[in-house]
Amino acid sequence: MRQDTSLNPFCALILVITAMGSQAQKQPEEAIDALLAKMTLEEKVGQMNQYNGFYDVTGPAPVGASGPALKYEHLKNGWVGSMLNVHGINEVRAFQKIAVEESRLGIPLLFGFDVIHGYRTQSPIPMAEAASWDLGAMEASAQLAAREAAAAGLNWTFAPMVDISRDARWGRVMEGAGEDPYLGAQIAKARIRGFQGDDLSNPHTIAACAKHFAGYGFAEAGKDYNTVDVGTNTLYNMILPPFHASVEADVATVMNAFNILNGVPATGNGLLQRNILKNKWNFEGFVISDWGSIGEMVPHGFAKDLKNAALSAVTAGADMDMESYAYVTHLAELVKEGAVDEALIDEAVRRILRIKFSLGLFEDPYRYCQTPPETLKQWEETHMAQVLDMAKRSIVLLKNDGQLLPISKDQEGILVIGDLADDKNSPLGSWRLGSVDHSAVSVLEGISAYRDDFNYVQGPKVFDDQADFLHHVSVNTTNTKGMEEAVEAAKNAELVIMVLGEHGFMSGEGRSRTDLGLPGLQQDLLKAVLAANKNVVLVLMNGRPLTLPWEKEHVPAILETWHLGSQSGHAIAQVLFGDYNPSGKLPMTFPRSVGQLPLYYNHYATGRPFDENDNVFWSHYTDEKNEPLFPFGHGLSYTTFGYNDLQIKTLPDSIVEIGVTVENTGNLSGEEVVQLYLHDVVASVVRPIKELKGFKKIKLEPGARQKITFTLTEKELGFYNNAYEWVVEPGLFQVMVGGSSAAGLRAGFELK
Ligand code: BGC
Repeated sequence: MRQDTSLNPFCALILVITAMGSQAQKQPEEAIDALLAKMTLEEKVGQMNQYNGFYDVTGPAPVGASGPALKYEHLKNGWVGSMLNVHGINEVRAFQKIAVEESRLGIPLLFGFDVIHGYRTQSPIPMAEAASWDLGAMEASAQLAAREAAAAGLNWTFAPMVDISRDARWGRVMEGAGEDPYLGAQIAKARIRGFQGDDLSNPHTIAACAKHFAGYGFAEAGKDYNTVDVGTNTLYNMILPPFHASVEADVATVMNAFNILNGVPATGNGLLQRNILKNKWNFEGFVISDWGSIGEMVPHGFAKDLKNAALSAVTAGADMDMESYAYVTHLAELVKEGAVDEALIDEAVRRILRIKFSLGLFEDPYRYCQTPPETLKQWEETHMAQVLDMAKRSIVLLKNDGQLLPISKDQEGILVIGDLADDKNSPLGSWRLGSVDHSAVSVLEGISAYRDDFNYVQGPKVFDDQADFLHHVSVNTTNTKGMEEAVEAAKNAELVIMVLGEHGFMSGEGRSRTDLGLPGLQQDLLKAVLAANKNVVLVLMNGRPLTLPWEKEHVPAILETWHLGSQSGHAIAQVLFGDYNPSGKLPMTFPRSVGQLPLYYNHYATGRPFDENDNVFWSHYTDEKNEPLFPFGHGLSYTTFGYNDLQIKTLPDSIVEIGVTVENTGNLSGEEVVQLYLHDVVASVVRPIKELKGFKKIKLEPGARQKITFTLTEKELGFYNNAYEWVVEPGLFQVMVGGSSAAGLRAGFELK
């Protein structure tokens, strides 16, 4: 590419900022037109190019002909529209300065980063937060993350991940909201509101990115980056709804995906990006590729070379290239050869500039570099309190048979066992690039806030402490050192709390697993301890559903605590000692065995759902149950809830009102997620046996009752047919209401 140096960069900067700045708020489209008219083809293509951070920009400039030096040159030429993984005020400022002061037109850069569950202060992993079913809390959590990220110079997060997934082998389930499109859509909207607020130019909000468009969560066999092959029923009714909801919530950007979808890479998929996203849904933001996903269309066998990949991606509607070097190297040439219409480039650049205008970057490119350190300090305490609250809400009580929980505050003889109990790193989860390693409150520290007279025995060391984002965690499967000591200690204890599960870096990107049991020697340890002492509370820490049928059968109390972030240990201790009554519900089915996967509650019926005589020829396994270990929506409380009086009223215009009375039948105040499921009994495209269509989280004092009403409209009663048309079909519907997807209360109605 040749650089046009006819404008003095400093004059250009002033021109652009004054000309655009004042107009920007009123008429951004006109301001964009004016800017586009000034841009060379190469500069336009430059806006469509994103690079990863490449050197310590506050040090000496890189020299040489490739790598950092090349990127640096491109920045000065105005051939870069955005950077990722550059964070911290000094770094961001220095990069922005190159773009606005040294490039001809001085167009400011976007700074993107994976702010997935917090920036500095870590919230629970997204799957854990989803278990709270608390939309307000999730919105506030995203808002907190945006505030901290924006204070570090960032103006764009690659979140929320809105991929539906039904396969716990896939490590990235930790990053999503689980298996249900309705819950997923509500959570997507809440998170986008949290990140973006109602004004992107507010220096405490950042642009969000709904990802990965589309189908990434359906990777075959749960293996990351693998083939996705799904029918239209699944694509339209399961995969796309959270993306559609994100667009309705004005998400600024969408990221495409690594996977092929029905034979066509998502990145080169015009049906998805151009037809559905941009044309049908009127998405006005821009599409960023996933990391290198344009280039990966070559090994996929879809593009013959990088140039051909650039052609496919831009034609399909991918606006910005993350680290493939495909656009910056080939797009201008493709336009000049007539293979790509320059109007396509203009459209992409317009979308990118639109977001830059909305963020207020033309008024002040350093807008996100101004939060004084004192303010950050002031935030610390409130942010810690907020992530603690979120962490408590995310915990799910899976089992409490012997009523071991809550633990009495004067319980004698408490023994804590497990490598993870003392781990200050794992609770931070997998996506925590802005946080300080080993900074979470451990379970031991959390319990210490209550008691100083408990014992701790680690048991065999399970995980390696040096594990990091880039490398696999090594797991001890042979060395039993510490086992005997743990068993001996258990013999003399009154109550044993065992903290077992996955290391924080065992889930996340590139972390698919085929064995979903407790890694290493943990189950052996649990069995040995349980043989010595029956009073065991199992505290699970993990980033995905696990297969724990033995544990469910033998351990009296099980608490699912995921990876809960900075305040993990305090949240867990407060639930263990009853200062917080757990109210979380599983956003994803827990299977009994990997062989059942994919396993999900909203499946279709088969022609042979059961056989009364238990002959062989029905849809089942010969060696495993069909039922899950714990169903979607499951979660107990220290109190109990009763459901009664299910009433259905059908009104004109396809409106259905459903009423149910919920009662706190136990002795403690508690929160319950009241869940409504629907089954469209006969349809032109078969419908799942049940689908979540509403939920409400309520708080009830002991003995209190509350009538809950849900209103169903065409939005809940309909579905997409195979031509992607929304249809509402008359006929019979079944309604199920309760505290999980195994909801017991049922009734029916007919839609005329
Ligand atoms: C992931 C994206 C992420 C991007 C940038 C990719 O490997 O799939 O979700 O946003 O990297 O870090």
